[in-house]
Amino acid sequence: MLGGASCPATTAVVGSVLLTNIVMESITYDASNSSVWLVKDTPIPCLQKDNQVLIKVAAAGVNRLDLLQAGGRYPPPPGESDILGVEVAGEIVQMGVAASKEGNLKKGDRVFALIGGGGYASYCLAPYQSVIKMPPNMEYIQAASVAEAFLTAYSALFWSGRLKDGESLLVHAGASSVGLAAIQLAKNLVRDVKVFATASKEEKLSMCSQVGADVTINYKTQNFSEEVLKTTGGKGVDVILDFVGAPYWTSHMQCMATDGRLVLLGLLGGSVIQEPMDLSVLLRKRVSLIPSTLRSRALEYKHQLTQEIADKVVPLLSNGQVKLIVDSVFPLAEAEKAHQHMKTNQNIGKIVLSVGQ
Ligand SMILES: NC(=O)c1ccc[n+]([C@@H]2O[C@H](COP(=O)([O-])OP(=O)(O)OC[C@H]3O[C@@H](n4cnc5c(N)ncnc54)[C@H](OP(=O)(O)O)[C@@H]3O)[C@@H](O)[C@H]2O)c1
Repeated sequence: MLGGASCPATTAVVGSVLLTNIVMESITYDASNSSVWLVKDTPIPCLQKDNQVLIKVAAAGVNRLDLLQAGGRYPPPPGESDILGVEVAGEIVQMGVAASKEGNLKKGDRVFALIGGGGYASYCLAPYQSVIKMPPNMEYIQAASVAEAFLTAYSALFWSGRLKDGESLLVHAGASSVGLAAIQLAKNLVRDVKVFATASKEEKLSMCSQVGADVTINYKTQNFSEEVLKTTGGKGVDVILDFVGAPYWTSHMQCMATDGRLVLLGLLGGSVIQEPMDLSVLLRKRVSLIPSTLRSRALEYKHQLTQEIADKVVPLLSNGQVKLIVDSVFPLAEAEKAHQHMKTNQNIGKIVLSVGQ
C-alpha cells in the first residue's frame, strides 16, 4: 500500500507539500553521441513499491557509469529509472508504508542514498534499504559524494578483498572518488595496513598521501609492479583494487602475494588481455580473482552494506577522521560540463551536481 501522491495527476500532495506543477527538471541523453542536457517537463516519479521513499534531491554524485550509460553502454537494471544518476542527497518528502514502518526514517529527514537510477533530477525514488540519514554537521554536497564511492570501496576491501590487519593493499586510480575512499577505509578500519596508490600526476599522488597512502606511484613514469616488489621485499601485495583491467593482468600476477585477492571493479584500460595469460601463476600463488559490481546487486546485499556503512563509516565521516574529497560542483543544467571534466580525468575526488538551487 502506498501513501501520498496520486499518479498520474495534475496536482499531487508530496509529503506535506501540494505540488501544482508535477513536472520536474531532469537530465536526458543521446546515446549516439553521449551528450546530456536538461529537460524541464519530466513527470515527478510516483512511489511504485511500499518500501520506497521519494527524495527531493539537493545534490547528485557523478560517476563513471553515468558516462557509460549516457553512451548507451550501461543500461539501468530492469525496473529502474532510465534517468542518469545512482546517488543523491536530499530530503524525504514521501514514504511508502513499509518504508515508514520498517526503516528508521521519516518525512523531512536529510538523507543520502544509493539508487538504481534517476538521481540527475529534482526528485527520485529510493528503497529505504539503501538510504542513510545524514549526520547533522554534513552538507548536501558532501553527502552526495558518499554512497557510491564508500559502498563500493567498503564492499571491495572487506567483503570481496577480505583485507585484514597487517596486510598490504594496492589501489589504482588512487585519486578517484572510489580510490580515495578505499585508501581511507583501509587506514581507518584495519590495523597496520600498508597502502600503495597509483595515479597519473603529482597533485593526484599528493592527495593520496594526504589521506593516508604510504607509498604513491606515478604509473606514467614508474613501473608499479617493480615498485611494489621492491618495497615489500619481493613478497607482493595481499589485495589489489583494480579499475584498469586487461593491460595490468601480467603486472598484477607479478606483484600479487601468495593467497592474494585481485578485486576487479572496472575496465578503464580495456577488457581483452593481449599477452599470453599463464594460469600457472594463479595456481602457484593461489590468487583469487573477484569481480564485483554494485549497481546490479540484490536489495538485501545493498541493505546489509548500507547498514555497515551507517554503523562503521558515517561516524568517521561525521567526526572528520575520514574526509569527503569533493573535486567540483556543477549546477544540474551543466551536467554535460561535469561529464567532460570526468571524461578527461581531471577530477581529484568527487564531482557533484547541485540540484534545485
Ligand atoms: N564495480 C563497481 O561496483 C564500481 C562502482 C563504482 C565505480 N567503479 C569503477 O571505479 C572506477 C573509479 O570510479 P570513480 O567514479 O571514482 O572515477 P573517477 O573519480 O572518475 O576516477 C577515475 C580515474 O581513473 C584513472 N584512469 C582513467 N583511465 C585510466 C586508465 N586507462 N588506466 C589507468 N587509470 C585510468 C584516472 O586517474 P589518473 O589521472 O590517475 O589516471 C581517472 O581520473 C571506475 O572505473 C568506475 O567504473 C566500479
